Amino acid sequence: MDTNSLEQIRERSQSFLQDRFGMFIHWGLYAIPSRGEWVRSLEKMTLEDYQVYFDEFNPIEYDPRSWAKAAKNAGMKYAVLTAKHHDGFCLFDSELTDYKSTNTKASRDLVREFIDAFRAEGLKVGLYYSLLDWHHPDYPAYEDKFHPMRDNPEFKREKSQISRYVDYMHGQVRELLTNYGKIDIMFFDFAYEEMIGETWKSTELTKMIRSLQPHIIINSRLESSGEETGSIYTKEPTFYSGDYASPEQMIPPGGVMNENGESIPWEANITLNNNWGYVASDRTYKSAKTIIRKLVECVSKNGNLLLNVGPDAKGKIPQESLTILTEVGEWLSRNGESIYGCGDASLPKPEWGRYTRNGDRLYAHVFEECIGAINMPELAGHVKHGRLLSDGSEVSVFRPWNTTMYPNDAFVSLDKPEHHTYPLPDKRDTVIQLTLKK
Ligand code: GLC
Repeated sequence: MDTNSLEQIRERSQSFLQDRFGMFIHWGLYAIPSRGEWVRSLEKMTLEDYQVYFDEFNPIEYDPRSWAKAAKNAGMKYAVLTAKHHDGFCLFDSELTDYKSTNTKASRDLVREFIDAFRAEGLKVGLYYSLLDWHHPDYPAYEDKFHPMRDNPEFKREKSQISRYVDYMHGQVRELLTNYGKIDIMFFDFAYEEMIGETWKSTELTKMIRSLQPHIIINSRLESSGEETGSIYTKEPTFYSGDYASPEQMIPPGGVMNENGESIPWEANITLNNNWGYVASDRTYKSAKTIIRKLVECVSKNGNLLLNVGPDAKGKIPQESLTILTEVGEWLSRNGESIYGCGDASLPKPEWGRYTRNGDRLYAHVFEECIGAINMPELAGHVKHGRLLSDGSEVSVFRPWNTTMYPNDAFVSLDKPEHHTYPLPDKRDTVIQLTLKK
């Protein structure tokens, strides 16, 4: 009997959860039409329509070392690249298909170069692999919910054909996990309707993955999608439940719990603008301040943040994205101690921001300016001392004269006199490190 339990899941994802912050990279032929990675499906394009992008693909400026440096400088600890997205185009030199980057003008194994470059920067590497495949001749097409040819009866396929696709998919996963050294993360995408669980031969697949890469962690989407569900949320996760939930474009209210109310490993994946793949006209970028605060929010709820970039057709990460990443990295270089290895503080959310915690170190992330001292409910007598995390300077843990009504609370002031109001030194997030008494 193939078993799985929350203990095993937690054990496997332990180091992943220390890392807290990673880079998601959506890149493929769809960077050329620049209308998102779903363009073929949304516009019901035929393979021939889409072929022009295959014929043209030539990312002369692809330099994964510069991507890796950007990720590292942003304070990210790992990265996940789309080895194959729903369009079926492979960024690696698969022996099982001709539909791959080595057969384009690029003539390069883009996955190999990605892995080598990110490893060289000391980052962990993960691969996104789409379960959907709009190129493979045996993948359900006519009447499939998402396939570009869903309305075209000429694409009617036998139900049994899917097994040939599943063999192909297993074969490609084997290639990815055999030919490129250690892989830390496998990100499948995604299950829907009857295309779920054992349709993908998930027990067999998971066994193979774990035998090839014993340390790997796998996301939950062999039986779920970005909407989330899946047996990882239940009392009895299946063998192929995956090791972490992957909610998409949202940070789950209250974090992620299973049916027993126990916190389970999770990672929110979020775009920097409003698209995964490159869309030149999409300038709806989130600010560095928003990203910093959302990263804090994930960590305060025991989760990771996988933040997406969508490189363009030439292989460049958009400048807007790089600028935001640089600023986030600058903040993390001073305040990373409050993020990496940290988690939920087991305290109610304070009015002015959020807490994160690592053992006896409590981090107060102050987003909002307070009048007078900063109030910390129920912490009176528990704080040994406080420091501004960014520069190590002392902050006073005091009892200002006007707080007698709140005997159970601690109060922290950024300067003296302690009842005065002081502007926050970092408007994005001022972090106060509090050492708690044992
Ligand atoms: C989705 C989408 C997709 C994107 C992804 C990221 O399910 O289909 O295009 O890659 O989620 O989580």
